[in-house]
Parts: sequence; C-alpha cells; structure tokens
Amino acid sequence: MMRIQPTQAGSTAAQSPFPEGWYFVASRAELATGKLIHKTWLGEEVVVWCDYQGRVCMAEAYCPHLGSSLAPETGAKICAGRLVCAFHGFQYDTSGRCVATPYAPPPKTARLRLYETRDYAGMIFGWWGLGGRPAQWHLPEAPVPVSGWSDIRHTTLRFPGHPQETTENSVDLAHLRYVHGYENVTRTAKLAIDGAYLLSCFDFMGTYRVAGVLGVTFDVTSVTHVYGLGFSQVDFEERSIGYRARLWVLSTPVDGKSIDLTLATHVGDFERPKRAIIGLSFLPLPARLKLMNRFALWKAAKYVEEDIVIWSRKRYVERPLLNRADGEIVAYRRYCEQFYKEQAQRDERRIVG
Ligand code: FES
Ligand SMILES: [Fe+2]
Repeated sequence: MMRIQPTQAGSTAAQSPFPEGWYFVASRAELATGKLIHKTWLGEEVVVWCDYQGRVCMAEAYCPHLGSSLAPETGAKICAGRLVCAFHGFQYDTSGRCVATPYAPPPKTARLRLYETRDYAGMIFGWWGLGGRPAQWHLPEAPVPVSGWSDIRHTTLRFPGHPQETTENSVDLAHLRYVHGYENVTRTAKLAIDGAYLLSCFDFMGTYRVAGVLGVTFDVTSVTHVYGLGFSQVDFEERSIGYRARLWVLSTPVDGKSIDLTLATHVGDFERPKRAIIGLSFLPLPARLKLMNRFALWKAAKYVEEDIVIWSRKRYVERPLLNRADGEIVAYRRYCEQFYKEQAQRDERRIVG
C-alpha cells in the first residue's frame, strides 16, 4: 500500500468521518490463501477470513471469551477454516459461532460480533450502519465476467481525507480540466439520484504523451455509478480505437483521519486495434489484456495522485461559494446527507411519526 503524507493538515469534513454505507475490506484473492486479515476499518478493529467453502466472515477483532485481540500479531490464526484465538484456543466458524474450545464444550452464547459482507466481482465489502443498524440498501449486481476482458487488478493509496470529498469528483466537472488537463468536458445526461444511487455521465478528451513528445488524443465517454460514499464504478468507452475499461474507486475511512482509496480496473480488448500502440497486437490476447490492465491501473493511480495533492490538503467548506456552473455540487451534497446520523434520525422520526 502506498502512503502519501501531506505537508499540511488534511481534509476536515464537518460531518462524521464514518458515513453509512458499503466499504471495501479485502479482495477475495487475498482471502483465498487462508489468510487472516486484520485492519482498522471505519474506526473499528476488524478481522476477515474465508473458509474452505468460500464463505467470508468479517468480525470485530476481539474474542468474546476474555477479550483477546484476534489479530494475527497476537498469534490468532485460521485452522481448517476456523478462526482460533491465541489466548485460550477458542475456535470460531464463519457464522461467528464458537464451535470448539480445547478444554470444555463451547459456551452456547459465545459469538463474534459480525458485519454483513457482500462479494462484488471478487471484492469484499462490509456494511457499516449508523448505530450498528443493518443494511439499508444494497450494492448492484456485479458485471458478469465476459471473454475479451482482463482480470481485475487493485492498488490502494492511503492519505488524509474523507470519502465525501473523493466521491465529489464524480460531479465536479470543472476540476477535470484544471487538475487532470481534460478538454471538451461535456455532461451527456442530467445528474440522476435515486436513494443511495447517483449517476453522472460526461464525455471528455485527453491527450497522452509518450516519451514526452508524441501526443495521442483519446475521445472518451464515461458513466459513473455511485452507491454511497464507498463505492463508485466508472465505465469508460474510448471511441476512436473502441477501447473499454472499468474503474472502481473505493474510499474506505480508516481511523477518522485517513482513508484507503482502493482503485480497481479491468479492461476490454481493442475493437479497432489499428490505431492502438503498435506491438500490443502481436501479443496473445491474455498477455495483451494483462499488460493493458497494468497500464490502466498505473494510469488511474497517476490521475488520482493529482487529486490527492488537493484532497489531502483541503478543508471542508460547509457553505461553499459556488458559481452557476457548480449546481450539481449542491445536489451532490444533498444526496450525501442521507449517510449521516442527523439526516438518518430525521428520516426515522418521519417514518415513526
Ligand atoms: S480470550 Fe480468546 S479464547 Fe480466551
Ligand atoms: Fe479527479
């Protein structure tokens, strides 16, 4: 994981650093090896693992017996698909139940505190509910794997920030020109919001330089699907060479100050490869896709690093001074309110009343 330290104080949103939603925890590939993952996730210590049947368990990282940490650093480990506490050897299956202890029958009520999880195209997300409430909405169906597309590849960047600020990028079209150098940025459909879902569509042109000289212009259509502040999926289509790619931008608050921004990409093969970079067409398809996806992820990380320069040093402006072209930021801010306590409590009072 790459850590970026700003030279000044980082983002300070007025709202809670932990808005409600689905947040990335780990990739299935990381869990497949019988690994026990421990992390600080939305201010909580959690462990995640997977059994032989592929069932994933995400739990609070403390043993209900006498409170030992279940982090691998303490000696906790996965044996035969069960989490074994290092302190007295209590064993937990992926339903969170204590199923064995080394010296007596397991206490009937011994259970781990669990988080609801969802596997989305091999990426595991956990639900973080206000006051521990259950999932209020769900992530969409994952795209079905199709031939002619690469596998999904990830990278994670850590920096001081807030998921509302990173997700705001999807509606802030003006920054695309100034921060990323895109041209002809044009909204192609009205911003659409439906509950926890937000859809933002725009076209843009970008010029990439190879070795600092040769400029190749790309003409791109992008469609961004946002489901809460921890999950954005951007579908790209480049028109001149028929190149398609998908980028996931997954913001996960760590400890109230930093966020882990996981970028995941996968790419489709060129439909019209003639204009594509010479040499790639001689590679067999799987090798070509792998190489293209490596490049796509590297490029995405480079773009996001341009944003991080801003994000990690900005402060949250509760009442921004917007101009006429910034109307969508107002709509976005309203959309965000549902993920914070005050708004959620207002909603609950309305339902009860
Ligand atoms: S604290 Fe975990 S088994 Fe005792
Ligand atoms: Fe950006």
